[in-house]
Amino acid sequence: MKRIWIDTDTASDDAVAILMALRWPDEEIIIEGITTVSGNVSLEECTRNALYTIELCGKQVPVYQGAGKPLVREAVFGYFFHGPDGMGGMNYPSPKLEIEENHAVNALIDAIRANPNEFILVTLGPLTNIALALSIAPDLAEKIPMCYVMGGAAATLGNITPAAEFNIYVDPEAAKMVFHSGLPLTMVGWELCRGEANLDDEDIKSVLAMDTVYSKFTVDCNRQAIQTNREWLGEPMLPLPDPITMAIALDSSICTKKGKYYVTVDVESEVTRGMTVVDERGVLEKDANVTVCWAIDVPRWKEALYKTLR
Ligand code: BDR
Ligand code: CA
Repeated sequence: MKRIWIDTDTASDDAVAILMALRWPDEEIIIEGITTVSGNVSLEECTRNALYTIELCGKQVPVYQGAGKPLVREAVFGYFFHGPDGMGGMNYPSPKLEIEENHAVNALIDAIRANPNEFILVTLGPLTNIALALSIAPDLAEKIPMCYVMGGAAATLGNITPAAEFNIYVDPEAAKMVFHSGLPLTMVGWELCRGEANLDDEDIKSVLAMDTVYSKFTVDCNRQAIQTNREWLGEPMLPLPDPITMAIALDSSICTKKGKYYVTVDVESEVTRGMTVVDERGVLEKDANVTVCWAIDVPRWKEALYKTLR
């Protein structure tokens, strides 16, 4: 039985990742808590979208609201990609579920300290909450067996800039702190979440043909993402980076090639702000701190998603 804590800037692909985790067989995983962070949309909208998704799945999970902005920089949002509400402009009704009173960072610290080495962490947004938690409680780094990070671009194929992926770009100082905290990390970079890993027109047709509330939700809330991806990156398909990361956290065999390297994050230059620099050949002779996933089994990833949508 896996126990999972999710940290998320909930917009459309985060919502699908949360749905996957909630609809994964109950005997295999428990979602212990969800913390929200400013990123794709404002903190309040992220929290609302997370609550809506949990309600849609008919589940109860404690949701804690976290950081409303990056550690030292101004917020950067992704409305252009995920739509004015982060959910493709679907304007879903307000959820009835309510957030917990505790701040996300305190909730995370308390939960991990009460259950050392029991939870894995899956981060789907900027790493602000995790950096704050580690700066207050550095011992957490030894009490979390693995943190799966959707973020970075190991092959330097950025999306928000040529060098950087959105989650790391938004709060590079937080990412750098987390990467060098001693917390065991598996990085699922942007380059794994495009091309044939995207849902193409046929995949989307077969998802819609499942005709469930979950399959419809997956396509509906991502409709702006599909359109923007086509117009902006020239890919006529739906990228799902957060669900791919969740799939790897749920079934590690979906990552078919990985290695552990020294990885750092650029916080100095504007051109390469948030770039994840991987010392693949070990030329710096520094201790490896991050496991980088280089390849995924695409049919297995898609089947992991589909089984939660049927
Ligand atoms: C990441 O940024 C956000 O747009 C997505 O939710 C994902 O976490 C991809 O770069
Ligand atoms: Ca996200």
